[in-house]
Amino acid sequence: MIGDAAQGHWDGVYSHKPEAERSWSESVPAASLELIAAAGVQPDDAIVDVGGGASRLVDALLERKFTDLTVLDLSSSALEQAAARLGAQAAGVDWLAADIRQWRPERQYRLWHDRALFHFLTEEQQRSAYRETLRHAMLSGGFAIIATFAQDGPERCSGLPVCRYAPPTLAEAVGPDFSLIESRRVEHHTPWGSIQPFLYGLFQRV
Ligand SMILES: C[S@@+](CC[C@H](N)C(=O)[O-])C[C@H]1O[C@@H](n2cnc3c(N)ncnc32)[C@H](O)[C@@H]1O
Repeated sequence: MIGDAAQGHWDGVYSHKPEAERSWSESVPAASLELIAAAGVQPDDAIVDVGGGASRLVDALLERKFTDLTVLDLSSSALEQAAARLGAQAAGVDWLAADIRQWRPERQYRLWHDRALFHFLTEEQQRSAYRETLRHAMLSGGFAIIATFAQDGPERCSGLPVCRYAPPTLAEAVGPDFSLIESRRVEHHTPWGSIQPFLYGLFQRV
């Protein structure tokens, strides 16, 4: 799925399915917060959550006094929901409605966070465009947390096919500009109690 079709798909999902009916929802993004702490990122470091959707990661980072936060997503409906939830605090966040494959960041970030966007890029051309954006966006020595379904995770998410990864295949897909410094298997419990195995990789720009 490309361009407008993908945007229409995700806008439809966020407009029609409440948070409790989206398999990827999590009330506390615990694994992401642990890896952000492990990266040693400071509260004034720039963080971008790509494919952030309506995730509560931004809420948790604001609570921890992070001050330079950007959330990017293809779906403006998702971003509007997150901003509405945050109320006045939303004014302190940069909200970007963009396709990660075409986005050309105007600045650089110390930490890139992606939970469950990269695995939708099932063609090498799409992953190559993602890597190009990642290279533009990252400060030298910066960190990237990329979470995908694990090798035994579901084959589809939100009705779309995904690629599933083990640590070496994720490292290969992210490319030689980044070294994998930690990986974790995390069992995500969907809002209705089923388990989805994820792989979280913490990378550092070489
Ligand atoms: C499974 S959801 C995960 C959302 C969020 N990261 C979380 O953990 O709650 C995948 C997200 O990726 C976004 N997305 C999919 N393809 C994208 C693309 N090419 N560029 C930007 N965002 C995209 C979707 O709109 C959706 O919000």
